[in-house]
Amino acid sequence: MLTRFKSVPSRCMRAVYLDNLRTTPRNLIYHAPRKPASNTTFETHARGYVTAAGDPVAFGQRHVTKGIGRLTDAIMTKGEGSYVHFHDGRRLLDFTCGIGVTNLGHCHTKVSKAAADQCMELVHCQCNISFHYPTIRLIEKLIPVMPDPTLDSFYFWNSGSEAVEGAMKMARTITGRQNIICMQGGYHGRTYGAMAVTRSKTSYSEGFFPLMPGAFSTSFPFWHQLGLAPDTPEEELVRLALYQLDLVLKQQTSPSDTAAIIIEPVLGEGGYIPAPSAFLKGLRGVCDAHGILLIIDEVQSGFGRTGKMFNVEYSGVRPDIMVMAKGLANGFPLSCIVSRKELTDKLKSGSMGGTYAGNAVSCAAAVAVVDVFQKENILDNVNARSKELIGALRNLQTCPEVGGNIVDVRGQGLMVGVEFASPSYPAQDLVLNRSAPRGLASRVAERCMEKGMLILTASVYEVIRFIPPLNVTAEDLKKGCEIFAEAVKEVIREV
Ligand SMILES: Cc1ncc(COP(=O)(O)O)c(C=O)c1O
Repeated sequence: MLTRFKSVPSRCMRAVYLDNLRTTPRNLIYHAPRKPASNTTFETHARGYVTAAGDPVAFGQRHVTKGIGRLTDAIMTKGEGSYVHFHDGRRLLDFTCGIGVTNLGHCHTKVSKAAADQCMELVHCQCNISFHYPTIRLIEKLIPVMPDPTLDSFYFWNSGSEAVEGAMKMARTITGRQNIICMQGGYHGRTYGAMAVTRSKTSYSEGFFPLMPGAFSTSFPFWHQLGLAPDTPEEELVRLALYQLDLVLKQQTSPSDTAAIIIEPVLGEGGYIPAPSAFLKGLRGVCDAHGILLIIDEVQSGFGRTGKMFNVEYSGVRPDIMVMAKGLANGFPLSCIVSRKELTDKLKSGSMGGTYAGNAVSCAAAVAVVDVFQKENILDNVNARSKELIGALRNLQTCPEVGGNIVDVRGQGLMVGVEFASPSYPAQDLVLNRSAPRGLASRVAERCMEKGMLILTASVYEVIRFIPPLNVTAEDLKKGCEIFAEAVKEVIREV
């Protein structure tokens, strides 16, 4: 039998602890951390759960599929608000939020309680068998916060990729057309259909072809991808991107064969680039002119991440289909496809469904998430902290010690990217800087971790993305910015 304590035993636990000490083999006992460890020896791993074979990290390295890349080979043991704990005693500020998921912080008490209560009531009710109350309550909560009143027909699933798959299935059957246009630099997931419209990095599809047929890509209005300078005026980017779309429709997939255009209103994995409103409006116009459906993927940018409940609200553009996930249930697996009833009524009964689709516990958590957004004024915090974050990063950009090595600070709300100079961009790239330090983004991310903060890179460019909790305090945000600034300066100095 394994003995496992979650934290240092309190006085009242001491008797149990001592009793366990007597009866449990030594390598199965939890040992309270004495001080944060800097190395990852077996001694430190042994402080938490220990497998029969010993070191649990080595066990994970051996038995968890190699197809998963990881920021750190440590074991996360606890999450509380903006912080996470690891098995080796480290407590880190989490500016990844599990890639934009735990937006209300880890284990938000109201969300966790709602899920726990639901666990004691009804855990699983398969969506093809009956309704359950958490779904009904969730839809009631979501309708008033939809970016357009026409979005009134919901389907819940588990992951973002599944929601993207479902959205494309719907678009094909509703329009009777096959092709989907996606954005260069876009990311929509790793299942076959979602992978086919993912164009942010070849590593997601390399070796997995053939993908779903009928996927075409067009330019996103991003200066980098168009080979332009960072200060290229937005109108010019939009003009070029809409022109490319026109060519795609004339040269690659005729409008009459095109079911949908899918776009993230802020490129996520592609480098944290908000789409200009004029571009989204342009897409809406093209879709309306040709009977093409506009699928807005708010999986990462939705649920308050960019300062409005959904990013598409900045442009006022109406999605025909919108997908969301991540922040929706703050860590419980839940995604959603929403469209208008007039369209979803065209789906054949039985064409949608899934064993775990719209799980009752996840839906109950999502109901609590929407409540917390309203009661805790989350959007106000996002907008206040966003100004501080962007301000701090712009100050850093102009700092003499940084010496021009930050070429761009961009984003909306708390979805903010910092791009560094690179000596290894192609010769045609206008921000190629042969004297810039190599691999700045990943080295800075690594240094931030050493200094107490988790942060992620993004895209094929040298980009770090800030995804702090939406309810992060001013103090923790400041701390994160200080860690980042120190890391950037140190890494640059080392070269
Ligand atoms: C915009 C976007 N769409 C879809 C997905 C896929 O979601 P999932 O990883 O839950 O399948 C992601 C995941 O990062 C995403 O950012």
